[in-house]
Amino acid sequence: MSIVYLNGEFLPIEQAKVPVMDRGFLFGDGVYEVIPVYSRKPFRLDEHLRRLQGSLDGIRLANPHTDRQWQALVWRIVEQAETDDLSVLLQVTRGPMAVRNHAFPKVVTPTVFIMGEPLVTPPAEQRENGVAAVSAADFRWLRCDLKVTSLLANCLLRQMAADAGCMETLLFRDGYLSEGAASNIFMVRDGLLLAPSKNHLMLTGITYDVVLELAASHGLPHEVRDILDEEVRTADELWLTSSTREVLPIVTLDGRPVGAGVPGPVFQRMYGWYQDFKRTVMRG
Ligand code: PDD
Repeated sequence: MSIVYLNGEFLPIEQAKVPVMDRGFLFGDGVYEVIPVYSRKPFRLDEHLRRLQGSLDGIRLANPHTDRQWQALVWRIVEQAETDDLSVLLQVTRGPMAVRNHAFPKVVTPTVFIMGEPLVTPPAEQRENGVAAVSAADFRWLRCDLKVTSLLANCLLRQMAADAGCMETLLFRDGYLSEGAASNIFMVRDGLLLAPSKNHLMLTGITYDVVLELAASHGLPHEVRDILDEEVRTADELWLTSSTREVLPIVTLDGRPVGAGVPGPVFQRMYGWYQDFKRTVMRG
């Protein structure tokens, strides 16, 4: 039985109920984080809590908890979980309203929800052979730097990949790569790792930051800058990164091979560094 946290209570998931007047339900008015937990140790929790604060500030919602309180709540969920590796969802909405009104209620009682699900990282087969992706115009709003629960555009865009039997949809806005429907995207050309600039058109992934830190600490040439659509189409390697998928090689884009059409050598190195880094963090 899975135990979740909802507004001050730990209870079985079946008993966790949110009122229909919750603004999260009616407007998607909320923010969230997805935190991987390995061997019952949350990965980069401080960074996730910092990003949560940024998202809350961005939607003008006061943080209902201090970092210490969040840490304690996450820890309780991790402790009670049935598996050691988890994906912890942490969600805050602007709570219920008396009458349906887009403007904020005068008194806000946020809804706070936390649950842990078994972490499913990509199977070895996907890492070894790579995955397929499609591309689409990024039709989301202009605050993609906020991790908000209004994910309809991301869902529609991800479904395009699912419909084509692919793993991810790469998003392009005004001729530039922004990110994936639910991941960040990196490319490699001539041994140089390229990452799209951090701005309001993409979410700065916690994994994205880890990958850039690993590139720096291992002396891998890398650059963070705007990336043109044509550059992506002629990349030697493409990767997607996210908390649950870690780092995965993309070997076809819109049915055409990326580089040699197999996971590239720079990916192999980064994947090794990422796993080593995880092990070091988990020992600490
Ligand atoms: N999503 N960009 C988008 C749009 C995302 O939804 C995600 C992750 C990322 C990668 O961020 P991170 O490395 O911090 O996971 C980038 C999560 C996993 C989700 O919505 O389930």
